[in-house]
Amino acid sequence: MNERDTLKINNKGHLEIGGMDTVDIAKQFGTPLYVYDEKHIRVMMRAYKDALNKYYGGHGLVLYASKAFSCKAIYKIAAQENIGIDAVSGGELYTAFSAGFNPAKICLHGNNKLLSELELALDNGVGLIVVDSFREADILDSLAAKRGVNQDVLIRINPGIEAHTHAFVQTARTDSKFGFSIFDGSAENMLTYLLDKRNLTVKGFHCHIGSQIFEKQSFELATEKMLCFIADMKKIHGFETETLNMGGGFGIWYSEGDRAHAPEDYCEYVKSIIDVIKAKTAEYGLRQPFLMIEPGRSIVGEAGIMLYTVGAIKDIVGVKKYVAVDGGMFENPRYALYQSKYSALLANRADEPCTEIVTIAGKCCESGDIIAAGVALPEAESGDILAVLSTGAYHYSMASNYNRNFIPPAILVNEGKAEYIIKPQTYDDIVRNDAVPERLK
Ligand code: LLP
Repeated sequence: MNERDTLKINNKGHLEIGGMDTVDIAKQFGTPLYVYDEKHIRVMMRAYKDALNKYYGGHGLVLYASKAFSCKAIYKIAAQENIGIDAVSGGELYTAFSAGFNPAKICLHGNNKLLSELELALDNGVGLIVVDSFREADILDSLAAKRGVNQDVLIRINPGIEAHTHAFVQTARTDSKFGFSIFDGSAENMLTYLLDKRNLTVKGFHCHIGSQIFEKQSFELATEKMLCFIADMKKIHGFETETLNMGGGFGIWYSEGDRAHAPEDYCEYVKSIIDVIKAKTAEYGLRQPFLMIEPGRSIVGEAGIMLYTVGAIKDIVGVKKYVAVDGGMFENPRYALYQSKYSALLANRADEPCTEIVTIAGKCCESGDIIAAGVALPEAESGDILAVLSTGAYHYSMASNYNRNFIPPAILVNEGKAEYIIKPQTYDDIVRNDAVPERLK
């Protein structure tokens, strides 16, 4: 899968997504606009499912990590594709429930889940909760007791591997806020603590080593560490691990620099995890665990593009040229947060050669409000439609109303049809929750 599966340049020289001309889309829905290609999302969900079927006899479940993009429609798609989801907040849970998503196929995460979030999960029968603190273990046990239920849980493990985009390192000492370390004994302590809880059943373990990772070795190494821990827990405590959740993190294509790394076939990642599981379970004499994986970015990332209208253009001669668009860090904070790289093109002149390198700026009242730097474009003019690619993951989900800008709407495109999946905000929405104390009236 690469960006070309979603996008095409048509005979008018316009960018097309999901069989629709982006210039027409911009006219119909306005800009800024999040655009999603439904087919691409489904292809990716199926790719992971197929990999589990092909290499592991279907003994597992794909959980879409909905923090990457959460709205009712995406949970509907996940349900139709027969996969589960990973949720990290009451808001994500509530959205999934509102879309009629089967709670049994939800795995709830979070290093500091709120009492109200745990209550919501238990009251609705969420399948798995990944425990990440002793305090949470106590709260969950008593909530389950009060409801007369037994809750299945996993333990969040820190396997001591920190993976980066182009490198991975093993860290003996770990300073992550997530999970329990294998090395300092806290993972084992958590297991024995939970095994004593009458209203909780430990199904197994979870780990997630990072995001936007390309190296298969990182996942292989993490799987090795987890299997070694699983073997130790069986030997020491007689604990049989039923479920192993290896998290997500599979990298995607954003810009030219990623071309050499971004995989054509995401099955390869799943296969490499499974190969290690098979080898290590045989070596240690263990049962093959039910395998969960939690891809987020790789399911929706390349399926999404952002459409903008070019406004002000400022050429600081010999220094920098800014092309300002009608969006900004309120709809995409990733450059401000991570200096993320992107590819962009003029959607209405997509067949023209790039002649200059520009910085794409937003409209927020802040110098750091940049969408992308060092972008090659034809000479942009006010009114051009600018498309930024691979914006499907961690864009809408991290958007805000900063400067009281509208969070843009999102549409889903499928075989030449486009429909809202997130409707436009209005000024009324902006002031909806404002309250004016009596004395100020
Ligand atoms: N599972 C767990 C427990 C996670 O924490 C995450 C992501 C995932 C799965 C999904 O990972 P993915 O397949 O999407 O890489 N805001 C950042 C990304 C934060 C990722 C947090 N956890 C960004 O914009 O790059």
